[in-house]
Amino acid sequence: MKLLTAIIKPFRLDDVKNALQLSGIEGMTLAEVKGFGRQNGHTEIYRGNEYRVDFLPKLILYIAVKDESVDTAIKAVSEAARTGKIGDGKIFVQPLENAVRIRTSEGGQGVL
Ligand SMILES: Nc1ncnc2c1ncn2[C@@H]1O[C@H](COP(=O)(O)OP(=O)(O)OP(=O)(O)O)[C@@H](O)[C@H]1O
Ligand SMILES: [Mg+2]
Repeated sequence: MKLLTAIIKPFRLDDVKNALQLSGIEGMTLAEVKGFGRQNGHTEIYRGNEYRVDFLPKLILYIAVKDESVDTAIKAVSEAARTGKIGDGKIFVQPLENAVRIRTSEGGQGVL
């Protein structure tokens, strides 16, 4: 299992969610965050306005996936989130030791 942490532009959320659902991913968590990438001192467009890149609003998505779904999920997120402009985001991939469904106490890949 892997934990994907994806940082995306907020307006791409619906497309990313749909792409993940079409890929068979059955859960995700998101939070509103702020961040910046490597264009420190340059500008980025957010909702039609140009901002100096200094902690722009982003969404962070946490998606736990089975090993066999990792590549599909990364492709779904990256293709759906991509505009081709700077600030499109990043996906971090980490090993995930276990996952537990609280209602039933089941664990392992089967709960994802
Ligand atoms: N090294 C990093 N560590 C943690 N978060 C990061 C890192 N790089 C980017 N992020 C997060 O991802 C968001 C989008 O990053 P961004 O897409 O601008 O990366 P980039 O490397 O500058 O790529 P690009 O050149 O396409 O803009 C940032 O606002 C920040 O929240
Ligand atoms: Mg950037």
